[in-house]
Amino acid sequence: MSYFRRDIDELVGYTPGEQPRGGKFIKLNTNENPYPPSPAVARAITAAAERGLARYPDPLGTGFRDRAAAVLGVDPDWILCGNGSDEILTLVTRAFVAQGGLLRLPYPSYVLYKTLAQIQGARSGEVFFRPEWALPDDFAAPADGLRLAFLPNPNSPSGTLIAPARVLEIAEPLPCPLVVDEAYVDFADENCLSLVARNEKILVSRTLSKSYALAGLRFGFLVAQPHLIVGLRKVKDSYNCDALSLAAATAAIDDQAWLTANRAKIVATRTRLTARLRALGFAAVDSQANFVWAPHPGCPVRPLYEQLKKNHILVRYMDYPGWGDGLRISVGTDDQVDACLTLLESMV
Ligand SMILES: Cc1ncc(COP(=O)(O)O)c(C=O)c1O
Repeated sequence: MSYFRRDIDELVGYTPGEQPRGGKFIKLNTNENPYPPSPAVARAITAAAERGLARYPDPLGTGFRDRAAAVLGVDPDWILCGNGSDEILTLVTRAFVAQGGLLRLPYPSYVLYKTLAQIQGARSGEVFFRPEWALPDDFAAPADGLRLAFLPNPNSPSGTLIAPARVLEIAEPLPCPLVVDEAYVDFADENCLSLVARNEKILVSRTLSKSYALAGLRFGFLVAQPHLIVGLRKVKDSYNCDALSLAAATAAIDDQAWLTANRAKIVATRTRLTARLRALGFAAVDSQANFVWAPHPGCPVRPLYEQLKKNHILVRYMDYPGWGDGLRISVGTDDQVDACLTLLESMV
């Protein structure tokens, strides 16, 4: 006999990218930043630890929200802190999607969204991207029980961006909130932040995991109109962000010079990686993120992934039924990317 809800018993569960514990790997599989974070982060963590951890942290992350608000040009009441942006995605699903309700996602995109719907006892409806990664009008169509839509922008695995004007066009007829998941947006040319004030249905989620090189910290946040933030606070754990991560995140977002310099390095390496993958016959997609999606029309890519792994280079092999497969390669340092490309050159 199982003690679990039936839908939990039936759930396969989300499988995150491999995080090898032993051995030396070049890790280009989970879109982490290859560079150390701003030095202000370690200083802030030390200072917070020295102040002591006996007390509970600020449940609303006021210090972080004040700094982030100044950087982003919004009011602090428009920001909700989360334990990674995955927690933000969980909170919005919990708050907006009733059991049996419908969650809309584009396909292929971030695989976790579907799992969140399943955990909630909800349905998910996938709308296929067009072959050139444009979003069809169907994404905005009303449907029975539709309660929430997720749009990763830039998308994973493609790294492509839907222009803000198009996102607004999609949000307008949608009968439910649209969470624009901007996990990778600091590597992109445009973002949807200004749309939040223009349409209450648009919520923007961000993370410090990628562009601030803090995946190990677990910190993300949501920008939404204040009445929605108030409602979402009711759903979160009181102390969802701990004192050390709040201190670190505040220091990180305060160091915009670090962000600008890091972004420039990643974007330069991304350009090189894309060009060299194309020279090897990959149909590498122009990326606005810190990874490149690389199907290969001329040879199967799974063996390439396996061969790279044997040589201690991890990339992500993704196979999307009904769409196709490819390698998703995170932008590492120039040396890491060169090691990966040199090996691929000997294989294709
Ligand atoms: C599209 C997208 N959204 C959100 C996340 C989650 O980021 P985190 O929970 O580290 O903030 C990821 C992580 O890979 C992602 O690819």
